Amino acid sequence: MSARIIDGAAMASEVRAEIAERVRAHMAAGHRRPKLVAVLVGDDPGSQSYVKSKTQGCAEAGMDSDTIRLPAETSHDRVLAEVQRLNEDASVTGILVQLPLPPQVDEQVIVRAIDPRKDVDGLHPYNLGLLMEGSPYTVPATPLGVQQMLLRTGNDPAGARVVIVGRSMLVGRPLSVLLSQRGAGANATVTIAHTGTRDLGVVTREAEILVVAAGVPGMVDASMVRPGAVVIDVGVNRIADASRKSGSRLVGDVDYASVSEVASAITPVPGGVGPMTVTMVISNTLRAAGG
Ligand code: GUN
Repeated sequence: MSARIIDGAAMASEVRAEIAERVRAHMAAGHRRPKLVAVLVGDDPGSQSYVKSKTQGCAEAGMDSDTIRLPAETSHDRVLAEVQRLNEDASVTGILVQLPLPPQVDEQVIVRAIDPRKDVDGLHPYNLGLLMEGSPYTVPATPLGVQQMLLRTGNDPAGARVVIVGRSMLVGRPLSVLLSQRGAGANATVTIAHTGTRDLGVVTREAEILVVAAGVPGMVDASMVRPGAVVIDVGVNRIADASRKSGSRLVGDVDYASVSEVASAITPVPGGVGPMTVTMVISNTLRAAGG
C-alpha cells in the first residue's frame, strides 16, 4: 500500500482563510484588532524562522504583530520585565515567548509570568489545567494542529487506539489529554510511549493513529507501524546532507520511505504538521482577543 500524503501546507492555507474571515467578523463587530507580540531571545535560525512565520501569518490574517528581539546574553530579569510590560499593555492581546530560552533564563518562571489570557501557546499551568479539567481556553498549538489534521482528513479519533510517542509539555502530554477528553474530535483511547517504554514497537503497532513527537530522526520504521495506520510525524530534525547546497535537510521522527508503504496516510516533513502548528498559533491569537 502507498499512503495518502496529508498535505499540511495546503490544509494550513485553507484554515488561514477561515481565520482571516473570523478576524473580519471580529472587527466588524466593533472589537479592537488583535495583536500578537513574540519575544525572541538569541539568534537560533530555527526559532527565528518559526517566529517569523507566526507573526507574518497573523499579519496575513489581518491581525497586528510585532517581535521583540533580545540578545542571547539577556538576563532572566530583563526577559521577565519584558513579559510583565506586555501583560500590562492593553494593545497587546497575545504574547508568545519562543522556546527554548538561553540557560540563564528560567523558562518555567517566564512561561508562568505570562498573563494566561494572553498566552497564545497555551503553556501556562492555568491553561494546561483548564485542558486537564475538560474546559480548555487556549490549547497548545501543535496538539491542536494534529487534531485538526486528523479531523480534516476524515480520521476522527473517536473510539480509535491512538499511540503518542513522546511526553513533552509542548506536544505529547497536552495531545494525550486533548484526544482522550470526552466530546467531539476526541474520545480516543490514548497511550503515551516514551524513552522508558519497553518493546516500543509492540506498543506502536497497536496504534490505528500513531503520533510521533520524540525528536529522534527516523526512529519509527515500517516494522513498528500497523498496516493501514494513520501516521502523524511531529518531528523536525536537521541532519547533515552533503548533496544539498545548504549541507543539511529536515527530516521527521518517522522513516518516511518505509512507513509510507504500510500506513494508509502520513504527514511529510517538512510540509506536514509544521504549517498547521503555525496556523493554530494564529487561531489562538484571535481567540485570546475574544474572537
Ligand atoms: N519552540 C518549539 N515549539 C514551540 C512552541 O510551540 N511555542 C513556543 N513558544 N516555542 C516553541
